[in-house]
Amino acid sequence: MGKLIINGGSRLEGEIKVQGAKNAVLPILAATVLNGEKNVITNCPHLSDVEKTIDVLESLGCTVCRQGNALIVDSSNASGHTIAEELMRQMRSSIIFLGAIIARFGKAVVSMPGGCEIGNRPIDLHLKALEQLGIHIEEEHGYIYCTADKLAGADIHLDFPSVGATENIMLASCMADGTTTITNAAREPEIIDLGAFLTHMGADVRGAGTDVIRIEGVKKLYGIEHEIIPDRIVAATYLAAGAATGGTVSLRGANAGHMEAMLSAFREMGCDIACEKSRLILAAPKKLKHLHTVRTLPYPGFPTDIQSPFMTLASIAGGTTVFVETIFENRYKHVEELTRMGADIKVDGRVAIVRGVDRLSGANVVAKDLRGGAALTLAALAADGTTEIENTCYIDRGYECIERELAALGADIKRTDI
Ligand code: EPZ
Repeated sequence: MGKLIINGGSRLEGEIKVQGAKNAVLPILAATVLNGEKNVITNCPHLSDVEKTIDVLESLGCTVCRQGNALIVDSSNASGHTIAEELMRQMRSSIIFLGAIIARFGKAVVSMPGGCEIGNRPIDLHLKALEQLGIHIEEEHGYIYCTADKLAGADIHLDFPSVGATENIMLASCMADGTTTITNAAREPEIIDLGAFLTHMGADVRGAGTDVIRIEGVKKLYGIEHEIIPDRIVAATYLAAGAATGGTVSLRGANAGHMEAMLSAFREMGCDIACEKSRLILAAPKKLKHLHTVRTLPYPGFPTDIQSPFMTLASIAGGTTVFVETIFENRYKHVEELTRMGADIKVDGRVAIVRGVDRLSGANVVAKDLRGGAALTLAALAADGTTEIENTCYIDRGYECIERELAALGADIKRTDI
């Protein structure tokens, strides 16, 4: 399963380039199914979740080849409309293909995605919205069977601004008859990138990034070239590595406009943040100040994906921080492991109370999900002594060669495959 071995205590200094956004790549790769042509997606990170998405594309009959950070996806010979159970179990977010497959082929069969490490991950909002577009849905034997004679635009209100449901509606409706309006839509930057990709392909999508998105169905979409936006969560994670070690970290290619809530939190902890053209620089104080309350919210609120890295920072800050995780019901699995490293954290349901300690100490810990694994990596960088982190497979889902990036900032880190 692989381990990271980190000797903590070094101040991180240096500059790295931010990878492309995992959560923009996945829906955009799904969107390539729509046009039946060749697409070139650049700034595509090397991640296991991207590899699993490529597996889905190829299972549908697309051809995919990688040239460095570019993926060339040709969906002209795509004919499959089924995503097999083992592919769905490998990555539940493959549910994002549903809307695109139905829009292209008029039918889709996918196995129920099920939950994951951080929660049950229901898809009721996806299915309710797709039915409003005229899709007939049956669920049996663990599979979802979707058929549609034709897709007709609809006015869809989301009870919760679900990122995945917003994306599935955008994909399913861009070649439907008539207009689709999504109210209470998710506003994440990754939605904006998907909207830009669809519009560039010839779709008529307005309002992506606001809570009202209008899609006017068109007859044909075309293959294009598109550059993925930078990954705001990975960017904040590497800034947090600087904050955790009293260092100075510079990021090339970050988009500060996507990171306001996180940059505000870094500043509240006493970090200096400088934005220079496409460089984002964090200079950390000797001792971090505590945050009062961190409440995770849909964008542009504080992102749930950065909650655990900030919990690592809070665990070595002066004072007490209260975390409220409002998005996922099981996103504190890193707490037990941070506690093994000397953190003082009490969890009660969705609330975690973190009392800062002077120093963390190295220990053998286990990553239990993607962002929790990142949090443990930051804790190891700040800790006295050596830390071994098991289950690097979780971290590799979202961070491209994390040991290469952190070593470039001066970390004493290596990976073993045992
Ligand atoms: C996306 O997941 C991201 N994943 C997640 O990033 C991110 O944490 C999340 O959005 C929130 O920002 C990808 O983009 C691949 P949601 P998604 O639908 O679309 C509930 C990471 O670490 N809900 O906005 O699944 C759901 O249970 C990952 O990179 C329903 O109740 O998130 C959750 O409580 C983790 N019914 C809330 O909405 C539904 O039909 C947010 O889910 C759908 C969602």
